[in-house]
Amino acid sequence: MKILAIETSCDETAAAVLEVNRGRFNLLSNIVSSQIKIHSKYGGIIPEVAARKQLEVIIPVIEKSVEILPGTSIKSKLKNIDYLAVTQGPGLITSLTVGVETAKTLSVVLNKPLIPVNHLAGHIYANYLTGYLSVNGQRLANRIKFPVLCLVISGGHTLLVLMKDYLEYQVVGETQDDAVGEAFDKVAKILNLGYPGGPIISKMASQGDSCKFNLPRPMINQNNFNFSFSGLKTAVLYLTKELKSNSRVKQFNNETISNICASFQQAVIDVLITKTIKAAKKYNPKTILLGGGVAANLELRRQLQEKTKKEFSNIKIFMPELKFAGDNAAMIAAAAYFQIKHKTQLTKRKTRSLSADPNLTL
Ligand code: KG4
Ligand code: ZN
Repeated sequence: MKILAIETSCDETAAAVLEVNRGRFNLLSNIVSSQIKIHSKYGGIIPEVAARKQLEVIIPVIEKSVEILPGTSIKSKLKNIDYLAVTQGPGLITSLTVGVETAKTLSVVLNKPLIPVNHLAGHIYANYLTGYLSVNGQRLANRIKFPVLCLVISGGHTLLVLMKDYLEYQVVGETQDDAVGEAFDKVAKILNLGYPGGPIISKMASQGDSCKFNLPRPMINQNNFNFSFSGLKTAVLYLTKELKSNSRVKQFNNETISNICASFQQAVIDVLITKTIKAAKKYNPKTILLGGGVAANLELRRQLQEKTKKEFSNIKIFMPELKFAGDNAAMIAAAAYFQIKHKTQLTKRKTRSLSADPNLTL
């Protein structure tokens, strides 16, 4: 079967074609058109601007994603598709609507079923995407065993999710205020580093000393699996103000900024890993999965791997390939495959009334 998936939940316009043959994944295309350059001017995303850009590029992105299929025209190429999938939510309503309405139209015109996918489920199934590709003839996903504990960390969400089976999600912890990615973005703004914050902060952090400044680890000792990052961001704001006005610090130079980045990043990593390990001790998962844009953070990946190995000898840990950590449509296709397999499809009548849901929960 071939699934054409569309993802437009935020500032990326993405389309991918995933072929699944007897449970084996073959990703035929994965096109992502990013708006980073546009939004970096404003230091964040402006929903109205994002949606307008989505509208402009959605058709060219879809056309590019089906280029690889047999046929001489876009219309004939699209005939090879068996299922359509689209991100229904959560995300920005204006951006989501562009993807949902485009997918509905394609579904009606091509007379193919449409699978609505939760964006956060997509981030989780990004791990299966790599896993289902065979490495040295071995299908890695066979090793993703339930129960699975997922740490989903993105620009809009921070969740710990327990899965006892495919499509069964129990949120056991979440952020009470800012998401992790949001904290990275806001700290980057405080330090004048541009948007998005994650990649530049992690780069600066690699040259800094994470012990230089003692920043708070909010909620780290609380007996629950929830998170809070807005206080940490405010602590960085006050530290920055203090350092800038402190006459002993001659210059607020790159070395100082790198040290702030490293100290901030380490505070975040400590909280994420401590909570994940605490949840793993309670729920005894066989597998831990990482997902979301912040999962691209190399230092987090390294420390999570190291610390979970030390704590548990029997838990396998999976992380998405870097290209599948941030928003993409391949992960939406992967999630859709499991929905098709478990027969949660839309009837034609329901397809026509499907609408984007910015607050969709798992
Ligand atoms: O999943 P994603 O692409 O979009 C949402 O669903 O929100 O995540 C984007 C977030 C941004 O906040 C970005 O700063 C963050 O992921 N990010 C990172 C890194 N790369 C991207 N955060 C920390 N370290 C990174 N290397
Ligand atoms: Zn995302």
